[in-house]
Amino acid sequence: MSGVITMAYLLAAVMFILSLSGLSSQETAQRGNLYGMVGMALAILATIGSALVGAYTVLIIAMIIGSGIGLYLASRVEMTAMPQLVAMLHSFVGLAAVLIGWGGYLDPRIQLEGAAHIIHNTEIYLGIFIGAITLTGSIVAFGKLQGKISGRPLMLPGRHWLNLGALIITALFGLLFVGKHHSGSATFLLLVMTIIALLVGIHLVAAIGGADMPVVISMLNSYSGWAASATGFMLGNDLLIVTGALVGSSGAILSYIMCKGMNRSFISVIAGGFGSDGGSAAEGDDVPEGEPTPTSHEEVASELAEAKSVIIVPGFGMAVAHAQQAVSEMTDNLRKKGIEVRFGIHPVAGRLPGHMNVLLAEANVSYDIVLEMDEINEDFPETDVALVIGANDTVNPDAVERPNSPIAGMPVLEVWKARRCVVMKRSMGSGYAGVANPLFVKENTRMLFGDAKESVQEIIRHLPK
Ligand code: TAP
Repeated sequence: MSGVITMAYLLAAVMFILSLSGLSSQETAQRGNLYGMVGMALAILATIGSALVGAYTVLIIAMIIGSGIGLYLASRVEMTAMPQLVAMLHSFVGLAAVLIGWGGYLDPRIQLEGAAHIIHNTEIYLGIFIGAITLTGSIVAFGKLQGKISGRPLMLPGRHWLNLGALIITALFGLLFVGKHHSGSATFLLLVMTIIALLVGIHLVAAIGGADMPVVISMLNSYSGWAASATGFMLGNDLLIVTGALVGSSGAILSYIMCKGMNRSFISVIAGGFGSDGGSAAEGDDVPEGEPTPTSHEEVASELAEAKSVIIVPGFGMAVAHAQQAVSEMTDNLRKKGIEVRFGIHPVAGRLPGHMNVLLAEANVSYDIVLEMDEINEDFPETDVALVIGANDTVNPDAVERPNSPIAGMPVLEVWKARRCVVMKRSMGSGYAGVANPLFVKENTRMLFGDAKESVQEIIRHLPK
């Protein structure tokens, strides 16, 4: 039986690797999800079948309740609230690591000596430490994204020293703990470390400004992977070790890609700062100096109809307005007229990685006209109309033109280089980073105010038949 289980675990690990590679492009993403689901089903079945697992009644009840909650949440969640859901799920992984760590410590059946004992205690200590940080960090991230906690970074005096102090105490306690057997002093060390790690989790994420939250979510994703991996060591479960390492490393790579997309160094994100100088993310409401030139649906429709090439740049506002279907319809309409229509997607447009790609795929926009920022940015000078639909920070010229701007250096879609740039949004207000956007008052920019979905529907109505 154990051979069968090892084989099943191996197969599940291969499925997870195939899943990750499938998820790396939109054409193969569905297949990637399928591999992941099959891998997870195999992993659960093999674990239930292993000799270590008993108490089937409790297990089945827990699985029914867990699946019920999962199905309910996933079917109801809005795309715009996906990051919050992910943050919440990470907190469960952290909680599981803490509980399993404490379970492993308190279990009277585990009697180890010598090196085996030290290794077991190290696994427990690290598992609880990473798990506790992931648990509270994810809860704070959830609160910030849900708007229940302020998006402003919490800047405690000497906060770096506080973190350093916590790390030093944790390391010292760890050295004392690993050699100890179950006793009052060992429990004290573990308990104090757990409390410190819970507080560090809160502090780490509370210090980070709203605009850096996507990186934090992916960083917590990475932590949750390492917590799962540590849990795998505690339980002697190879699959959990491998899966945790896959999640841990892919989360770290994603964090790196996002940092590059926002031109932020990973260290400065973790240390907090962006959005800390007043105009904090999600709370600023700066407007640019100068007068915008408003336009009408009719005028935009006729400019589009006369164009040879159009690039649509969607952003968070398209998601809020649920405008993707209308955008897809408008795209089909223009392409039937022989107009070249393409989409330019910024790596951090929207509120989660791949947000725009998912929405456009849902609305059946062909993958081959949906291009990454790097693939399309050079084409704007030869483009007749750049249509910005609910995007703001990701098209802010200050990022490349004003070195002292809070978002200076962030790569952006250079829509202002098109012959005509039309921006669709409801007001002159700022985007997520809370910074004014001078694009709205540029000479060749026209502002089409209103809800993105209604505006696109109006444009379709005015397009020549
Ligand atoms: P944002 O800069 O957030 O701007 C979105 C704009 O959409 C707003 O200025 C808003 O203007 C407009 N809008 C809202 N509802 C609308 C509606 N119903 N109809 C039309 N417009 C509407 O968007 P972006 O360009 O996509 O940039 C994303 C930002 O979020 C970046 O700062 C990024 O760092 C951050 N972020 C990204 C992620 C990831 S991983 N993608 C996660 C979290 C945060 P009005 O209010 O005037 O309409």
